[in-house]
Amino acid sequence: MSNSTIAAAKETLNKKGYLDIEVDPTLDLVAEINKLKKEKNAIILAHYYQESEIQDIADYIGDSLGLSQQAASTEADIIVFAGVHFMAETAKMLSPSKKVLLPDLKAGCSLADSCPAPLFKKFKAKYPDHKVVSYINCTADLKVLTDICCTSTNAVHIIESIPADTGIIFAPDRNLGAYLKKKTGRDLVLWNGACMVHEIFSHEKITKLMVRYPEAEFIAHPECEAHLLDIASYIGSTSGLLRYTQESKSETFIVATEAGILHQMQLKSPNKKFIPAPPNNTCACNDCPHMKRNTMEKLYLAMKYELPEIHLEAEVIEKGRACIDKMLDISAKAGL
Ligand code: 13P
Ligand code: SF4
Repeated sequence: MSNSTIAAAKETLNKKGYLDIEVDPTLDLVAEINKLKKEKNAIILAHYYQESEIQDIADYIGDSLGLSQQAASTEADIIVFAGVHFMAETAKMLSPSKKVLLPDLKAGCSLADSCPAPLFKKFKAKYPDHKVVSYINCTADLKVLTDICCTSTNAVHIIESIPADTGIIFAPDRNLGAYLKKKTGRDLVLWNGACMVHEIFSHEKITKLMVRYPEAEFIAHPECEAHLLDIASYIGSTSGLLRYTQESKSETFIVATEAGILHQMQLKSPNKKFIPAPPNNTCACNDCPHMKRNTMEKLYLAMKYELPEIHLEAEVIEKGRACIDKMLDISAKAGL
């Protein structure tokens, strides 16, 4: 591809955050993406909240912990991240010599945005003796201010790995933080952030559904509010929720997390029924608008032009990576 073609493509990206180039609608995108994967020795890592078609073409689908482990260990030259910005940043920190592509740079995260690093720095200064544990759903700049990262899969292990007499600040999710306080009995100082998707569920509509489907189990992600977690029969990360639906004898589940996970639940248990927990508004869906910015067309264009690429300063990679490495180390020792 000529330099001028790439420069013209980049121009469309600068304005929109993704390559705004028309894709021939007759193109077999699955075949083209698979071809590009081979040609370029690229790997596609996808989060469970991606649209079904993207999940189906990914080399690895997983939760935030699994995706980080894959990003750290892959032999591929290019990591194409079908997820959101903080996930691609994490992949870049773990594999700095590799090219990391995110099909749409504007695929952000309301939770990561709820904790700007300069404000958090001032907050942290009030607790000079505390360790900072940050949920991986945060910016690279916040990771620089963090001692140990965690995901919803390993958060309890990470908190419990810190000596009981050490104070802990937990950021940015107040709901996961409150859940961890309850689960570990530790007095965590919480940053007041939240995820827009997991705070939209309607308690009233869910309880009505539970009456309508008395045989159903209500299961929830720990980013949900406490009043929902209190009525859940299982609380876990996306991979935890998926595993639970496979192992439980129940045939029907009301699922309180982003609706993308239902695709894998249905694939793994075709005879079971999965009902997305209803949100607090008139919309029937609970999609993450950030996750859903990625499309097959954007994925194809990102792989073809090798754009948009994630760039991080060497200092951010070095300082931010330390908290992720600690998390991966504790997770490996715990067999997660
Ligand atoms: P996990 O898949 O790690 O549970 O995270 C959920 C989430 O909100 C990712 O953005
Ligand atoms: Fe962020 Fe919530 Fe979307 Fe996950 S579901 S990417 S936490 S906004």
